[in-house]
Amino acid sequence: MHNALLNVELLDAASEPYRNAGRFAYYFARGKLRADPVYRAILELGLLRGRTRVLDLGCGQGLLAAWLRAAEHCYARGIWPWGWPSAPRTLSTRGIELMARDVERARRALGSAAEVAHADIRSASFGAVDAVVILDVLHYLDPQAQLEVLRRVRAALPTRGLLLLRVGDAGAGLRFRYGQWSDKLVMLLRGHSMVTQYCRSTVQWRTLLKECGFDSEAKPMSQGTPFANVLLIAHAT
Ligand SMILES: C[S@@+](CC[C@H](N)C(=O)[O-])C[C@H]1O[C@@H](n2cnc3c(N)ncnc32)[C@H](O)[C@@H]1O
Repeated sequence: MHNALLNVELLDAASEPYRNAGRFAYYFARGKLRADPVYRAILELGLLRGRTRVLDLGCGQGLLAAWLRAAEHCYARGIWPWGWPSAPRTLSTRGIELMARDVERARRALGSAAEVAHADIRSASFGAVDAVVILDVLHYLDPQAQLEVLRRVRAALPTRGLLLLRVGDAGAGLRFRYGQWSDKLVMLLRGHSMVTQYCRSTVQWRTLLKECGFDSEAKPMSQGTPFANVLLIAHAT
């Protein structure tokens, strides 16, 4: 089967559980998983392979957990794009999310397949994990809180443990500002009040990661979108 069709199978398998969480949750999941290149990249580049305990900070409605579960399911059935590495086999996926409504949607969709805590990442315990994923969240925290969260992420990981941090590149001009405004709009639609954003350029994010005990590389992560997002792939030193 053609890779595009296999991707649709994956998208269907990851979105289907959100039918239990209402129309908004279902269509939001389909739209985001289809349009956001980060989900595909995580599988296509094999970024989470060999990482069995995954922590998703600011997990929203739990899309990453649904995506990983769908990947495992599709891979086991032989429905897998040609040329991609094998699907990651996660033993536990834990999410932490501030918005009660998102936590509820995640729990309804994922059931016992993932744990979703209703808590603030500035104070919640991270436990001990193999990989931490933070997608489009850290800019909501002020600079001191960003530093403290990243230090605690480092403490939760072993040496060579993985952090996937997606951020907007504040050094990228108009595309970055477009992303900032669209982010504000989406947050308003999802029921947040107007939030302040604390952004940095890619270079500044990487400097902060270094300060917190990570070596990082940056990959552009907004293909097919008008934004200036970057995925920082960071390893604990
Ligand atoms: C743009 S959404 C991204 C959601 C998810 N990471 C994804 O990519 O689908 C940002 C999420 O971070 C959550 N968030 C922001 N500040 C937080 C905090 N201090 N603790 C926990 N979650 C937080 C928001 O409620 C929101 O769900």
